[in-house]
Amino acid sequence: MKTEKSGYILSLDQGTTSSRAILFDHSGRIVSSSQRDFSQYYPEPGWVEHDAVEIWDSQLAVAREAIAAASIDPAEIVSIGITNQRETVVVWDKDSGKPVYKAIVWQCRRSNQICEELIDAGLEEEFRSRTGLRLDPYFSGTKLCWLFREIPGLKALAENGEILFGTIDSWLLWKLTGNHVTDVTNASRTLLFNIKEQKWDPVLLSILGIPVQVLPKVLASSDDFGYTDQKYFGREIPIQGVAGDQQAALFGHTCFEPGMAKNTYGTGCFTLLNTGSAPVWSKNNLLTTIAWKIGNQTTYALEGSVFIAGAVIQWLRDEVHLLSSAAESEQLAKSVSDTNGVFLVPAFVGLGAPYWDPDARGSIMGLSRGSGRAHIVRAALESIAYQSEDLLSSMSADCGHKIEVLKADGGATANQFLMQFQADISGVPVLLPEIAEITALGVAYLAGLKCGFWESLEDISRNWQIKCRYEPSMKLEEREKRITLWHKAIYATREY
Ligand code: G3P
Repeated sequence: MKTEKSGYILSLDQGTTSSRAILFDHSGRIVSSSQRDFSQYYPEPGWVEHDAVEIWDSQLAVAREAIAAASIDPAEIVSIGITNQRETVVVWDKDSGKPVYKAIVWQCRRSNQICEELIDAGLEEEFRSRTGLRLDPYFSGTKLCWLFREIPGLKALAENGEILFGTIDSWLLWKLTGNHVTDVTNASRTLLFNIKEQKWDPVLLSILGIPVQVLPKVLASSDDFGYTDQKYFGREIPIQGVAGDQQAALFGHTCFEPGMAKNTYGTGCFTLLNTGSAPVWSKNNLLTTIAWKIGNQTTYALEGSVFIAGAVIQWLRDEVHLLSSAAESEQLAKSVSDTNGVFLVPAFVGLGAPYWDPDARGSIMGLSRGSGRAHIVRAALESIAYQSEDLLSSMSADCGHKIEVLKADGGATANQFLMQFQADISGVPVLLPEIAEITALGVAYLAGLKCGFWESLEDISRNWQIKCRYEPSMKLEEREKRITLWHKAIYATREY
């Protein structure tokens, strides 16, 4: 029989648009939470920045608010986990702690030219075979390289050990504990980390001109990252779980076995497939990444990233004014039996996996005199599922078998039309968990495993409860016809 343990795990979930803190109990239930949005900066087309100090302030504030809301003594928090938007780059002064520049966000395309130079120099395979990633501005390495090229004197400071680099986890860890550390999942998104040897790769550092002394020490995902300074929560609390948010979600969904997959429906969509203890090198344009490391055991994943998913609904609401709220999209989509031949390809910032086409731009096609608002809204929702299907079929091709079920989380999972269409177009059951905050829960599990709050993966698996299940009901012939038309739309968009 399962016994409940007393105490709580505090998860800090630092995302792209908000900082959140959630307290979980032993059964994985949410005890309290707090959230704050923070500023987004778009100084030039395609550039995205955050203020690292604002991120830190908001993250500390929500952590304190969540503790206060639960009316608990901080002594009852047995451990802290940190999960975060990945790839975003922070560089700070080691002595003053001040960031030397705004945080360069994962969405920022400013290092596109550096990527093109490296591709032209024939270095793509060098990077791919060591990091599992592509030469795309999405990843941290070329953003850091951009800073060294553009900020006079920064490289010399780096060589003298006067500045430090980190992804958001590392920045928060340094502020909370004073330790300059990160975990393997975040390191594996930098384009600097050799995922087979699990160390910063000297060849890649030399190509990008990055001095090794700026880089944090890399730990496992369930590990001892240090203790929070007493001044923050009135006592020292150990931080024992750290993982990038998409890997944390895979863990939170308890996708512990090879072949298990999840999709997170946020601004973008991130699909991850557990591939077990050895990296699988994609033949279908997916990324290979570290899912987590516990003790000496590393688990790898294949990942596909769609850049625009929920953001297409925001666009219909805020820019085109076809919707008054995101929720309205469901009822409108259901008011028509199909899109009447309309396809919408939301390639607003190019296309991510499996196309990796930074120059593509969005399109709406198949319009006729009878096309109306509902058809376009329905086509936008369907585009989220079609893009996810492209990732799932690439994953199936890479691992040689069909994905059997898809576990899903994120805001858009509330849209029943979208979830049913995903099940239909992918021919796969889509499962939603009882606890929606699966990312924060995932890193709570990683912290809790380290301190013995949870004994084992089996112990954790018992907490995953299904909220609802969408069964595929579309005929194979119909599915194939629609996917063919979707690919025609993608082709036409890229040709434009
Ligand atoms: O790779 C980027 C990803 O980690 C961002 O996630 O949830 O902050 O949009 P999110």
